[in-house]
Amino acid sequence: MKKINTTTEEVPSISILSLNNVYKTLSGKEILHGVSLEVLTGEIFGFLGPNGAGKTTTMKCILGLLEPEAWELQILGSPELTREIRHHIGFMPENTYLYKYLTGREFLRFNGKFFDIPKEELEDRIDTLIQKVGLEHAQDKLLAQYSKGMLQRIGLAQAIINRPKIVFLDEPMSGLDPVGRKMVKDLMLELKAEGTTIFFNTHILSDVESICDHFAIIHFGKIVANQKVSDLTGTLEDYFMEVISKTKEGIGDVI
Ligand SMILES: Nc1ncnc2c1ncn2[C@@H]1O[C@H](COP(=O)(O)OP(=O)(O)O)[C@@H](O)[C@H]1O
Ligand SMILES: [Mg+2]
Repeated sequence: MKKINTTTEEVPSISILSLNNVYKTLSGKEILHGVSLEVLTGEIFGFLGPNGAGKTTTMKCILGLLEPEAWELQILGSPELTREIRHHIGFMPENTYLYKYLTGREFLRFNGKFFDIPKEELEDRIDTLIQKVGLEHAQDKLLAQYSKGMLQRIGLAQAIINRPKIVFLDEPMSGLDPVGRKMVKDLMLELKAEGTTIFFNTHILSDVESICDHFAIIHFGKIVANQKVSDLTGTLEDYFMEVISKTKEGIGDVI
């Protein structure tokens, strides 16, 4: 398979995110069983796994939306998610709840105000972002009138309004048609080219093959694979099926 702009060799090996032994219980059920991961600066990292595997829960822990029972974290060189560190992080949740009665431009302005960006600079950034995500024609329309693909694109613009060093995207291509998926993938590659590190959750294997430098697979709350895309010897689908079939709930090889 032809890979687009995958420059693994050029990525410096500097850790931007490291998770060690994350344990998280929700409603009495242990959801994450010792998840460990490392993401390098400048790479696109795909976090794969079947539905319900623990991808969103892991992301919520990293972002401080859930508190694990035990873990070690290093993000942007800090063991804690301080206010300063948060300013360098972007996040697009899955099925973003958007205020439907704001226009696209108003929505970006609303989100930009959380980051102490001077007013004029914020308006300039919004112009650039709207152009980047191809929503010039819809910037003054209410989000209630946006299609799924348009909502996904404005959600992505919102996630990078603070020019983050690392951006977390939870299922950014889910529910999109091929045109929408291509646009989101191109945007992710553009962000990478600008030096942004991207961590995204997905269960779409072909998207990982085409744009990621590195991937990990989570299954029943355990990491069952973690490697460079360029080190795959066969297809990701075959590899995915192989590692998933080996792991049963509560047992299996954890790496
Ligand atoms: N708030 C919650 N309370 C109880 N169980 C939860 C909660 N949130 C998620 N879960 C369960 O945790 C597991 C992992 O969920 P999630 O991290 O959303 O998976 P993924 O994002 O990989 O699809 C699922 O079995 C889900 O039902
Ligand atoms: Mg999820």
